[in-house]
This record gives sequence, C-alpha cells and structure tokens, in this order.
Amino acid sequence: MRIIFSCLVVIVLSGCADADGGDDNLGGTPSQPYTDFFSPLPEAVPYPASNPFSEDKQELGMLLFFDPILSGEEDVACATCHHPDFGWADGRSFSVGVGGTGLGPNRDDNGIGNLTLINTPTIMNVGFTGLGVDDKTVPSNFISGAYFWDLRADTLEEQALGPIGNPVEMRGNLAEHTQLDDDQYLAMIIERLKHSSYKAYFDEAFGTVDPVTQLAVESVSAENLAAVLATFQRRVITTNSRFDKFLMGDETALTSREITGLNKFINGGCARCHGGMMLSDNLLHEGDQIVPDLPSVRTPSLRNIEKTAPYMQDGSMTTLRDSVAIYEQREDLQVDLGEDDIGDIEAFLRSLTTEEFYQEVPGGLPTGNQVGGNI
Ligand code: HEC
Ligand code: HEC
Repeated sequence: MRIIFSCLVVIVLSGCADADGGDDNLGGTPSQPYTDFFSPLPEAVPYPASNPFSEDKQELGMLLFFDPILSGEEDVACATCHHPDFGWADGRSFSVGVGGTGLGPNRDDNGIGNLTLINTPTIMNVGFTGLGVDDKTVPSNFISGAYFWDLRADTLEEQALGPIGNPVEMRGNLAEHTQLDDDQYLAMIIERLKHSSYKAYFDEAFGTVDPVTQLAVESVSAENLAAVLATFQRRVITTNSRFDKFLMGDETALTSREITGLNKFINGGCARCHGGMMLSDNLLHEGDQIVPDLPSVRTPSLRNIEKTAPYMQDGSMTTLRDSVAIYEQREDLQVDLGEDDIGDIEAFLRSLTTEEFYQEVPGGLPTGNQVGGNI
C-alpha cells in the first residue's frame, strides 16, 4: 500500500513524465525536479555589508576561537565544544564547559557539573544558515541567521557574544565574575584582550584611526570581537558534496540506492522542513515535536549529518539510523515512512557529507595558551 502511494506521488511530482517507468520511479533513477526542493550550496559564503571579509579578521577570529582567553577562568575556548575533530561540534549529548578537562566524549566535568542543557550544534556552514527552500541564488543583501535551537540570535555577530557570558559555557563560577552584570563582565573580557598580545592583531585588523574623523579609536571592542569570530566561522563551509554535484546535473554522483532514498525523503514528507540549500527551513514548527516530550525547536540542517552524532536537541539519538527511525508511524508530522525506507533514507543522508572540509587547528596561540583550552 505504501509503495503504491509513493508511486502516485512520484508520478504527480514529475509531471507524469515517468509514468511508464513503473517501479523505476521508486528505484535508483532520477525522477523528480529535485531543484524544486533543494539547491546546491554556492562555492562562496556571503559576507554581510556590516562585516565584510578581511584576511586579518579571519585570522584573528581563528586564533580567538581556539583561545581560552575568552573564558572567565581561561580554560574553555569556543573550540572546546566546536572542534574540527568532531565535525565542529563535540560528539556529546550535552557539553562540558568551565572546569572540565579533555575533548569530545572523553571530556570530564571533574564533578563540577557545568553541562549545557542542550546539544551543541556544528558551526559548519553557519554562514549559510537561513537559506530556505525558495533561494536559488544568494541575494546580495543576505544576512545569515537566525541561530540557536530557539532562533534567539538573529545574526552570527549577535550569537558570538552569547557563550562568552554564559555561566556554564565560558564565564564560570568565580564570585568576581558572577557578581558582575552581563555588560560589566563583557567589559572585563575586553579589557583583558586590550592588555594581551591580541591588541596588535585588533589594531592591524581594524586600524587605530577613524577614517572619517581622523581621531584615534580603540580597536579592541565587543563589536569587533563579535565581528572576527563571525568572520572566522564563515570560513568553515563545506560545499561540493556528492549531493551538490547531483543537483548541479551530475546524475552519476549518487548511487542508485541514494537516489531511492532521496525520492523517499521527498515523497515521505521530510523535505517539507528539511529543504533548500541547508536541508533546513530554519524555522520553529510550533506544535511539531519531533522528539516526544521535548519542546519544538528549529529544524536543524542535515548537511554533514554523519559527522555530527549524537542527534536531536537532547543528543538522545546516537546513530543516524535511530534519528531517521524516529519518524516511523508519525502521521502527526505528515510524514509517511515505513520500516523499509529507513535504510534508503539513511544512505541518502550520508551523501550530504563533504569529505574534504576545512578542519585546520592552529599550531599555537599568541598568548601561549593551550590551543582549544583544557582539552
Ligand atoms: C561549553 C560548550 C560551548 C562553548 C564553549 C561554546 N559553544 Fe557554541 N554552542 C554550544 C551549545 C550548547 C549551543 C546551542 C545553544 C542553544 O541553542 O541554546 C551552541 C550554539 C552555537 C552556535 C549556533 C549554531 C546554530 O546553528 O544555531 C554558534 C554559531 C556557536 N555556538 C558558536 C560559538 C562560539 C563563537 C563560541 C565561543 C565564543 C562558542 N560557540 C562556545 C556550546 C558551546
Ligand atoms: C515538521 C518539520 C520536520 C519534518 C517533516 C521532518 N523533520 Fe527532521 N527535524 C525537524 C526538527 C525540528 C528536528 C530537531 C528535533 C529535536 O531535536 O527535537 C529534526 C531533526 C532531524 C534529524 C536530526 C538532526 C540533528 O542534527 O540532530 C534528522 C536526521 C532528521 N530530522 C531527519 C528527518 C527525516 C528523514 C524526515 C522525514 C522522514 C524528517 N526529518 C522530517 C523537523 C522536521
């Protein structure tokens, strides 16, 4: 019954062009106008006019991303939780922030218990976040976003300062830090940077004289810190997966089984939320709880999904297969997925991996701090 249903959908979607193809429509032959549902990632990431690209900003952003100087007790870096060895996440259900030691699943909270309450998403391709189903090209005024599971940060620049002030992630428990309000705490971190070896890097990246007024300006600021972290993260992109090649017309880029999975992914209703360039509409689907008993969250991107286990907002699904299987018998989500479909869809999702992705770790830091913090 399910097979017949899917056949009908395929025939309708492909304008009956393959109507004589019978079962082939479910098999490994391209049979749909796939670019109605998805678009390949562009080669280049868009930079907002308010924070244009520069080499200096990118380089400084990389160093700071890996430097624990941004944390209260100088032990946690952004890379502690967003590390290239774990697909720019950390392979954990919940992450260990301040006071922890080690990297990834082996990281120990040392009894301090500073655990994030939600799964850490990858930062791969965050520069493209928000490109929806209808975007075929990136509009020149595109500003990526929004971010976090609940979409509370509009831009990557706005997002960047969040973890720094977060008590669990980077701020820590020292009374001298917790008694400051958020603005005072951030000002303390900026003051610390002004007196560090990063001062010269900020001067180089932003200059020391206002180009209009010719007055001296301070290059180390919260705004410029956010700008460099965002600029670095826009570098961490993974274009040109086999799926992108397929969308660009190379029908041999996917195996027959992967194409079967792709057809089932569309016909089963997954692309309703997981469409567009990122395989995500980046929307909260109020009332659509994918994981029972947990709040509705924004649709995550499925790009490089095989690199970023465990899955879901609570990291409760350890395998990709489990996270597809959760959709079985889920009429509430308008999803039509049978047991036989799970393996095919999983195979398709693995074609979204970019094998050669940017995963450089700096060899050292200007402060002499340990790269990535206490990992
Ligand atoms: C202790 C672990 C931890 C540290 C350290 C950390 N993050 Fe995160 N990051 C998280 C978690 C958890 C989330 C999801 C939070 C949420 O959605 O409420 C997240 C979300 C993000 C996102 C949003 C991704 C998306 O797709 O919405 C970005 C970007 C990001 N972090 C960048 C950074 C930067 C930059 C730093 C350093 C300034 C940093 N993170 C430090 C754990 C961490
Ligand atoms: C109503 C929108 C919607 C539909 C339809 C949908 N998803 Fe999702 N998907 C989501 C949301 C939202 C999450 C995150 C849920 C959570 O963590 O609580 C998610 C999570 C996932 C994840 C885990 C991603 C990660 O990084 O944690 C996978 C894999 C996935 N979906 C695959 C599918 C497949 C396969 C289908 C079709 C059978 C599908 N989705 C249909 C919205 C949707």
